[in-house]
Amino acid sequence: MGVTLDRTSETPLYRQLLAELSSRIRSGEIASGSRLPSVRSLARTLGVSPITVVQAYNGLAADGLVHATVGRGTFAGASGPETARPQSDDRANTAPEDGEWHTTLPVHLRAPRISAMHALLRPGRRPGVISLAAGTPDPSLFPIRVLGRLWSRVMAAEDPGFLQYGTSQGDYQLRTWIAARCAATGIRAKAEDILITSGSQQAIDLVARTFVGPGDYVLVESPTFITALDIFEGRGAKLIGVPMDNEGVRVDVAASLMERFRPRLMYTMPTAHNPTGITTTEDRRRQLAALARRYNLLVLEDDTCSEFTYDGEAPPAIKAFDAGGHVLFVLSFSKTVIPGLRIGCVVAQAPLLSRLVDSKSVADRFTSPLIQRTLWRYLSSSRYPRDLATARDVYRSRRNALLEVLEETMPTGVTWTRPSAGFNIWMHLPDTTTAAEVFEEGLKEGVACAPGDLFLPHAPPPSGLRISFADNPEETAGEGARRLARALTRVLASSRAEEPESAFVTTV
Ligand SMILES: Cc1ncc(COP(=O)(O)O)c(C=O)c1O
Repeated sequence: MGVTLDRTSETPLYRQLLAELSSRIRSGEIASGSRLPSVRSLARTLGVSPITVVQAYNGLAADGLVHATVGRGTFAGASGPETARPQSDDRANTAPEDGEWHTTLPVHLRAPRISAMHALLRPGRRPGVISLAAGTPDPSLFPIRVLGRLWSRVMAAEDPGFLQYGTSQGDYQLRTWIAARCAATGIRAKAEDILITSGSQQAIDLVARTFVGPGDYVLVESPTFITALDIFEGRGAKLIGVPMDNEGVRVDVAASLMERFRPRLMYTMPTAHNPTGITTTEDRRRQLAALARRYNLLVLEDDTCSEFTYDGEAPPAIKAFDAGGHVLFVLSFSKTVIPGLRIGCVVAQAPLLSRLVDSKSVADRFTSPLIQRTLWRYLSSSRYPRDLATARDVYRSRRNALLEVLEETMPTGVTWTRPSAGFNIWMHLPDTTTAAEVFEEGLKEGVACAPGDLFLPHAPPPSGLRISFADNPEETAGEGARRLARALTRVLASSRAEEPESAFVTTV
């Protein structure tokens, strides 16, 4: 396509690409109806990360200069290719052929980061490749047998009416258990304040659908959970990144962004942050709760992993400091029990909770009562705390082992976080290289990691990678880290520019 990008420019690469493509489409150099290259092929040609291309294509779509169609790609022009809107008299000649009907189907919800992530994670499943990319729990720790037994007991003992269409809010006993669990993190909640969801991802989605609309500003940590970015953007929200440092999210920056943009919501993971592994200090949590009140803003607090805190105890939840009901607290059982159960929840005060219950009812009516009751029996058994302690010990020792290998092998200029909780380590790369380059070079060495650009609300990416230590035995993860170190050493040796101080944070 012959696009030249200026890597020394202050203008982010995606904006340069957006401007270039935009001018070519407007001038007709790229004809209306013609197909743009696929994200991966253009990324490869230009030597940029796929997310750079995705962001440029998104910008073109927002300006009405391109449109996407299912299974075919991105086309220049606001509405479909000429065949998409045939005039009545030539309809027969221009209608898509049988089997191609979907090419004119407009796509109303796009999830560019998730699509890019799936494409990028695929090579990690090739034989011989060690994947440090997934950030998932270790299946060998799943309490499958005990859950199987409890499942049979629930099926045998419960009244069949129990499997009738259930309440949208979820199993009362499970909600009561969660309320008690919340008390341990300082949250005062009753079963009535809790909505059971199909995984915590659904809780995030329901909050977004219910309270975030087109044009609303949403503050997110930068970097943050990939899916949440696509969920908020899917609602038409404008994302604003808040930088992080080793003490967590920069609340001072968040405060000035709140003053300037009056966002509707801030999404945050104060404990075991994904992807950095950072835990936000208690002091900053208090400040965030106070800011939510001052700026009349919702805080969506996502807790997937605080049970896996390895050094001391996690600070109280932000919701523990929430006097006015501004904080919506989301919890997941995917990392602590099994992701396949698909159970999470949201804790919110009365008027907000009933809106969320309505949204749940619209989305999928209710979450399986059988799974909820089985989970409740497991959580209330003496097995659960023992299993949790075992898993915590395993993950702690995997974290320690991986940190040791990083210390021994990583080349100068590469730094990383030392997480006190969760599954992930974030590596800061020198600005002389990109995450995409390291990702590709890593694959040649037989290791996959998660390129950091995907986790950012905006380009330009400060170069970073996420590596996860939970789902591989120590020796395997250690070998993966050694391979990554070799790849990084090669990439850095071949980069010509001077190496600046690393800084992984971005703002707006
Ligand atoms: C930070 C964060 N929040 C939410 C989720 C969604 O988890 P689930 O829907 O499995 O509860 C994930 C999954 O990886 C995550 O990393």
